[in-house]
Amino acid sequence: MPTYTNIEDLRQRYERRTPKMFYDYVESGSWTEQTFRENTTDFNNIHFKQRVAVDMSGRSTRSQMIGEDVAMPVALAPVGLTGMQSADGEIKAARAAEAFGVPFTLSTMSICSIEDVAEHTTKPFWFQVYTLKDDDFMRRLFERAKAVNCSAIVITVDLQVLGQRHKDLKNGLSAPPKMTARSIANMATKVPWGLEMLRTKRRSFGNIVGHAKGVTDPSSISSWTAEAFDASLDWSRIAQFKEWWGGKLIVKGIMEPEDARRAVEIGADAIVVSNHGGRQLDGAVSSIRMLPAIMDAVGDDVEVHLDSGIRSGQDVLKALALGATGTYIGRAFTYGLGAEGEAGVTKALEIIHKELDISMALCGETNVKNLGKHNLYVPQGFG
Ligand code: FNR
Repeated sequence: MPTYTNIEDLRQRYERRTPKMFYDYVESGSWTEQTFRENTTDFNNIHFKQRVAVDMSGRSTRSQMIGEDVAMPVALAPVGLTGMQSADGEIKAARAAEAFGVPFTLSTMSICSIEDVAEHTTKPFWFQVYTLKDDDFMRRLFERAKAVNCSAIVITVDLQVLGQRHKDLKNGLSAPPKMTARSIANMATKVPWGLEMLRTKRRSFGNIVGHAKGVTDPSSISSWTAEAFDASLDWSRIAQFKEWWGGKLIVKGIMEPEDARRAVEIGADAIVVSNHGGRQLDGAVSSIRMLPAIMDAVGDDVEVHLDSGIRSGQDVLKALALGATGTYIGRAFTYGLGAEGEAGVTKALEIIHKELDISMALCGETNVKNLGKHNLYVPQGFG
C-alpha cells in the first residue's frame, strides 16, 4: 500500500481506480454543490485553543454512542451503492469498522443485503431505512434487521424526494451499470476494479430485490426514489416506525431546532444533524454551523450526532467540542474503500483516529469526553 497520510490521499487514489459513474456518484452534491462545499469549508471557521505544559499522557478516544462502546465516536454513515466502489464493499466496510471498534451503518440502498453483511460480521451493526410507501415492505425490512440482530435503526428523514445531482443524470447512474459505449469504455480503463467486480455476483441492490411494486426500473436510484419513496412522510409515521421497531432509533437528517424537538417528542434515542452530505437541499446551511442551535434546543434531552463534511480528526474534534456525542463519515471511508478495499477503510479510520488523538492532546485534553467549547474559538454569529 502506498503511504497515505490524509483522507485526500485516499480520495486521489480512489478517483484513479474507479469508473467515473461511481466516483461521480460519491463526489458530488445536488444542483450547484454550494452546501456540499460549505460542509467542509465551514469547519475552517472554527479554531482550536492550543494548550501547553499539560500532562498529555494516558489519552483515550473511547466513548459511547447510543450506549454502545466505541473506540472513537466516529461511525460509518450509510452510503448507497458502496458495493459498486469495491466488490462486496459493504461487507468490507463493515468488517473494517468491526475490527476498529466503531459502528457500521448499512444503507437501504446497499448492494450487499442485510443478511450478506450479517453473515460476514460477528457484531451487531446499524441498519438505515428510507421511508417507502409500501408498509408491508417496510415492516419486512425491520423484521430482517431484527432477525440478524441489528442494534439500531437509522431512519433517514431528509430524502422524501431526491435532490437533483447533475452528474448522476448525465452518467445514467444505475446498479448494475447499463452497458453503453461510454460506460464500457470507462470501465475498461479500470482493470483492478473490473476484475474484482467479475469475481462477485453482488452487483444490484441487495435489500430491495423483489420489491418492484410500482417501480419501473429497479436498477435506477432516481426511478426508485421517485416511485417507491414516501413523499407524504410525517412525524406520526416516524412515531409508528419507532413502535414497529421497538429498539434503538436514530433519526438522521435534522437541520432545524424545531425538527429536533419533534424527534425528541417521538422518543428518538439520537438525532443526526445532517444535510445528507450536501446531496439534498442545495443552499442549506452546513451541518456544523447548525450544531450550536440544535444543541441549545435539545442537547439535554437526546444524544446529538453530526455528519456532513468531516474529512479529518480535527473536524471530529470540533463537532465533539461543540457538543455532539458522535459523528459519522460518509465519503471519507468510501474513498478508502475505493482506493484499497477493506484495508483502505481501516486506513481512513486510522488517519482520522490519529488526527483526533494528537489534536486533542495539543488542545490539552486527554479524553474525548472532556472536550467542550472551552477548547474552541468560535466566531461571533457562527451558527
Ligand atoms: C450518502 N448518504 C446516504 N444517507 C442515507 O441515509 N442513506 C443512503 O443510502 C445514503 N447514500 C449515500 C451515498 C453517497 C455516495 C453519499 C456520499 C452519501 C448520506 C450519508 O449517510 C452521510 O449523511 C453523508 O455522506 C455525510 O457527509 P460526508 O461525510 O460524505 O461529507
